[in-house]
Amino acid sequence: MAGNIEVIVCPDAQGVARRAAGIFAALIRSKPSAAIGLATGSTPEQTYAELARLHRTEHLSFAKVTSFNLDEYWGLDGDHDQSYRHFMNTKLFSHVDIRPWNTRVLNGRAANPQLECQAFETQILSVGGVDLWLLGIGGNGHIAFNEPGSPVDSRTRLVSLTPSTIAANSDGRFFKDPAEVPRCALSAGIGTIREARQLMLLATGSKKAAAIAAAVEGPFTPDCPASLLQDHPSCTFIVDREAAAGLRSH
Ligand code: F6R
Repeated sequence: MAGNIEVIVCPDAQGVARRAAGIFAALIRSKPSAAIGLATGSTPEQTYAELARLHRTEHLSFAKVTSFNLDEYWGLDGDHDQSYRHFMNTKLFSHVDIRPWNTRVLNGRAANPQLECQAFETQILSVGGVDLWLLGIGGNGHIAFNEPGSPVDSRTRLVSLTPSTIAANSDGRFFKDPAEVPRCALSAGIGTIREARQLMLLATGSKKAAAIAAAVEGPFTPDCPASLLQDHPSCTFIVDREAAAGLRSH
């Protein structure tokens, strides 16, 4: 099954961001009411800065766009400075003309996590599905918070974070101390993600090289959740040279 994923290698992280933002811009220009899927973390930050620039200087309008975010920490309010709602508001939403009511980030303090996850799935269906979903990848191959072992048909649900993800997210970029990182999150499932019409996974830096090689050239296996994208009809990985270093074919 390996081989279906298209890989674009850019010279550096800025090149990855420009390429990714260009793909979003082309979609939104051809379909102004597009439903887009978004990710948080360090990797997409430059892409969001580039989208904000395109909005400012090239009239790229998000006025009719609907967005869905992959995940949210369980237990954090949207106004907590480490919540993914806060990340999205500060990195992208407040810099473009997207309507706040058209931005959907899972509620980490919902009274009933199961109902919250079902409502999220229903909202995706109600707009006709996601046109293009942006993804990052964990060093362990996770996508969203679908850690190794997550089933290919998993849906949006409450999940536990692995120790490696807790460590990665408390290395000073986000949380300062592993004890501060929530142990659980609400996460779109692999099945939810696979239903998007187009997928675009970004990776930069040598820490992602092994995961990228396993996802693209390794077996189709829940041991590497990103490898479960191999049979998607339209999946592109946009990576820098360092993240591509483990690929045999690049
Ligand atoms: C975040 C998400 C995660 C990250 C991954 C990589 O919404 O879904 O799967 O994409 O942990 O994070 P960074 O980009 O910080 O290396």
